[in-house]
Amino acid sequence: MSYRKLFYVLNFLLLGVFVWAVVKDNDAEWKTYQRTYYEKMATYLDAQAGQQKDPAQAAKLRAQADEYRRHPLAIKQIITDGLGRYDRCITCHVGMDEYENPGMTTPFKTQPYAGHPDIAGLVKAHPFEKFGCTVCHEGQGLATTVADAHGWVTNWDRPMLTGVHIQGSCVKCHGDFRTLKGAEAAAKGYDLFHQHGCLGCHSIDGVGGTISVDLGDIADKPIPRIAPYNFLRVTIDGKHLEEKDWKIQNWILGHLVDDPEYVTPNDPFAEDNAEPIAPSPMPDFSKELTRDQADDIVAYLMGMTKVEEDEIPYRYHVAAPPEKEPRFASAKAHGKYVFEKYGCAGCHGVDAVAGRRRFNALGPGQKDYDPKMTKAELFAEMEKGREPTLPDLMSGYDHDELVAKIEQGVPPTAAKKWDPNGPLPVVYMPAWKGKISKKELDDLATWLLSTAKQQNLGF
Ligand code: HEC
Ligand code: HEC
Ligand code: HEC
Ligand code: HEC
Ligand code: HEC
Repeated sequence: MSYRKLFYVLNFLLLGVFVWAVVKDNDAEWKTYQRTYYEKMATYLDAQAGQQKDPAQAAKLRAQADEYRRHPLAIKQIITDGLGRYDRCITCHVGMDEYENPGMTTPFKTQPYAGHPDIAGLVKAHPFEKFGCTVCHEGQGLATTVADAHGWVTNWDRPMLTGVHIQGSCVKCHGDFRTLKGAEAAAKGYDLFHQHGCLGCHSIDGVGGTISVDLGDIADKPIPRIAPYNFLRVTIDGKHLEEKDWKIQNWILGHLVDDPEYVTPNDPFAEDNAEPIAPSPMPDFSKELTRDQADDIVAYLMGMTKVEEDEIPYRYHVAAPPEKEPRFASAKAHGKYVFEKYGCAGCHGVDAVAGRRRFNALGPGQKDYDPKMTKAELFAEMEKGREPTLPDLMSGYDHDELVAKIEQGVPPTAAKKWDPNGPLPVVYMPAWKGKISKKELDDLATWLLSTAKQQNLGF
């Protein structure tokens, strides 16, 4: 045998040993958890027996303990009823196997030995032998190691949802999630999404703005379409993500707890492109949302999936109660609601208090353009570009003029640039004609006019 052949054969053997080691090791992982669960149960029952005064009862408990000790080890799997899931989570989380342990509670406090928390009557409402686990938790149902099952591994698109993010799953099935017990964070997320004007630039299933992407299937966005370049720029709690944390929920969260301008810096000085491109126009929400609020929005958006729509049969969907037409005490109150409903806040700020940033547009406090400025100085001035702060301008309008302005919008090409060689401001005033009803427009104008600043009446 030539050395070359020997080299190949030895390599092949080495690979074989490696594969065998991995398989054996994976096998050992679940077996250890399952065996430990049975041993813990046996020890617990023996202790109970020791406290029993009635010898017959004590003997019964000891017999039960022995049964646990002799319990064969096996992979356990829930095949869901029409939900297309094969979940082996109960291989380790044995106390959540409804056949093994119908009560779903155990005497133990730590996972994977504890029972399932019964929040909002959740366990009864969703029999696990029908629903499985991953329809709520996500993760990798078939896997039998902790890292793989919890899906916290590279390139698994549906990692386990932790903390409040799990409420995205409730949103998939429950049209009534805004009033559902146990889905409070997702309901808050929905409200925040609307109050902060995300719909000014984004749509959900076609309803909303066209400046940026539709978020109606954001939870399905494949990781390879984001990684690796973009994830390197995401920071959460001030830290860059490890590769195993490159997950869609962290991509969304990263847009809300850090400045999107750093996530998507683009090319404002045309260094790599023929034309300059402004950085992301998405507002820096880290300045106006708390971390909890950002997580609530993520919880809501993790329910925005279309793949699941195909997978989850209709009988699992819970319809929303018919939406009550909100009633308003006055035209002004209704107008403020309309402002929120169409996402005007996304560009003009919550309650129209202050225009948001509009890179390289004109803005308050800008120095005069000077071509001799350094790049850093130019960037800093372009950063001061702003969308209009509406209350400052209302004295220049009467009711009909304002309605007409909102209906017509301002085309993107009409934008005045601060740096004539810099990028065109990305964000523009959409035309709302045909999108907002006449009554809504009237009340919107009434409210906006009422916000006019006293000092700007022009006398
Ligand atoms: C190989 C054994 C094993 C399998 C399989 C497994 N788990 Fe776990 N699970 C554990 C262990 C161990 C812990 C506690 C330590 C930890 O969190 O890593 C745990 C903890 C958890 C927690 C609490 C985590 C937290 O951070 O609060 C959840 C939720 C969970 N598992 C869900 C699942 C789901 C859903 C599946 C199936 C897709 C699953 N597990 C499959 C072993 C397993
Ligand atoms: C109807 C949705 C739903 C289903 C189905 C479901 N869970 Fe949960 N599970 C939840 C929620 C909600 C929580 C609480 C999460 C939180 O507050 O962190 C939870 C919590 C847990 C925890 C953490 C408990 C702790 O001690 O913190 C584990 C482990 C877990 N589930 C495992 C499972 C397993 C295994 C299955 C399948 C046998 C399953 N779940 C099925 C919704 C569900
Ligand atoms: C696969 C779809 C599905 C998922 C995911 C799901 N549910 Fe449900 N849920 C149902 C169905 C179906 C019912 C039964 C409704 C009925 O009987 O009218 C139900 C019933 C309930 C009930 C009791 C009845 C009610 O409407 O008050 C509660 C509470 C509940 N779910 C909360 C949750 C929460 C919280 C989550 C997320 C952690 C969740 N569900 C995830 C489908 C789902
Ligand atoms: C002024 C317009 C604007 C507003 C308002 C806005 N965004 Fe964005 N958003 C964008 C643009 C443009 C992008 C495209 C990527 C980039 O350049 O950052 C984006 C990207 C995103 C992404 C990543 C989408 C993907 O497919 O990768 C998410 C998630 C997101 N925005 C969520 C939100 C949420 C939640 C809100 C409200 C709190 C919001 N956005 C408000 C303009 C906006
Ligand atoms: C995607 C961002 C965006 C959204 C959403 C948006 N606007 Fe604007 N709006 C702008 C920009 C940019 C301008 C300045 C246009 C210009 O002059 O170049 C503007 C200008 C205006 C003006 C004229 C101000 C002036 O200069 O006199 C009014 C009034 C106005 N918007 C009202 C609204 C109302 C009401 C809504 C919601 C129905 C809304 N806008 C939604 C970006 C937006």
